[in-house]
Order: sequence, then C-alpha cells, then structure tokens
Amino acid sequence: EWSDSERKTIASVWGKIKVDKIGPQTLARVLIVYPWTQRYFGSFGNLSSASAVLANLKVANHGKTVLNALDKAVKNLDGIKATYSELSQLHCNTLNVDPDNFRLLADCLTIVVATSFRSEFNPAVQATWQKFLSVVVAALSSRYH
Ligand code: HEM
Repeated sequence: EWSDSERKTIASVWGKIKVDKIGPQTLARVLIVYPWTQRYFGSFGNLSSASAVLANLKVANHGKTVLNALDKAVKNLDGIKATYSELSQLHCNTLNVDPDNFRLLADCLTIVVATSFRSEFNPAVQATWQKFLSVVVAALSSRYH
C-alpha cells in the first residue's frame, strides 16, 4: 500500500533518472562488485576488468533495457507483481538467474542514484525508493519455484 507522499516521491525520483546514464552505470556496477553475476552474460564479450565492463556496449544497452523495465512498475504501483509475472518466469525458467541477484541490482541502483542526486536523495526519499525497489524485487522473484 502506498501513501500519496510515497507515490509522489517515487514518481519524482523516477522522473529525474536518466535511464541512458543510470542504467549502464548500474549494470556495470553489479558486474564489477559481484563478479559472479558475469556468468549470466557469457554472450556479452569482454568483462575481464572494471574498465572493460564500463566500456562494454552490450552491458550499456542491457543496463538501459533493465532500467526501462522499471517504468512499468512506476506507472502501475498497485499491480507490480502482475506486471512482472512474465519477466519473473523468464528469469527463472529461461535465464536461470538466481533471484538473490535482483536485490544486488536494486542496491547498486540505489547507490548509483544516490551518487547522482546527492543531497536531493535525502533519507526519507531513499527509504521510499528502497521500499519501491523491494516490491519490484519481490515481484521478480514471485514466479520462482
Ligand atoms: C534479460 C529486466 C535483473 C540477467 C532481461 C530483460 C529485461 C530484464 C526487461 C529482457 C527480457 C526480454 O528479452 O524479453 C530485469 C529487471 C531486473 C533484472 C527489471 C531487476 C530489477 C537481472 C539480474 C540478472 C539478470 C540481477 C543477473 C545477474 C538477465 C539476463 C538477460 C536478462 C542474462 C538476457 C540478456 C540477453 O542475453 O540479452 N532482464 N532484469 N537480470 N536479464 Fe534481467
């Protein structure tokens, strides 16, 4: 359940996120800080160093894809679980992604957003943003069995 103030905060943070910048930075950070996540991206080419990850265009493109997928949740806060039902099944059955990794990506996104927004991302805003991401993570994990 979302209060009016939470709804406003989530819409406001999302409105300020530049997907083309934050998406690539977030996925790159996941791959650098948690190198075991590289196993899912065998087709992405050279991920052998932080600079290789940051220069990798497939990483950048996929980072945008992942972040763009969040738009659906922002626009449908009351139906996030249903929104991600198919995406959850895809990550479980087809991609075989361990669902623990969703939280790692969410945490990296929060760090990248905090670094980018600075003081605008105050503790109250951060708490609401992380609540939003925790619902997204739960939804993406919901079709695992
Ligand atoms: C593909 C979203 C987290 C691994 C995708 C796609 C989307 C997406 C929209 C494209 C699906 C399609 O082609 O139909 C998300 C969201 C995430 C998330 C919203 C969390 C907020 C993760 C994590 C991993 C992962 C944490 C692994 C560590 C993959 C892989 C693909 C994929 C390997 C296929 C990439 C390719 O070969 O093109 N994801 N994802 N995802 N995702 Fe995720």
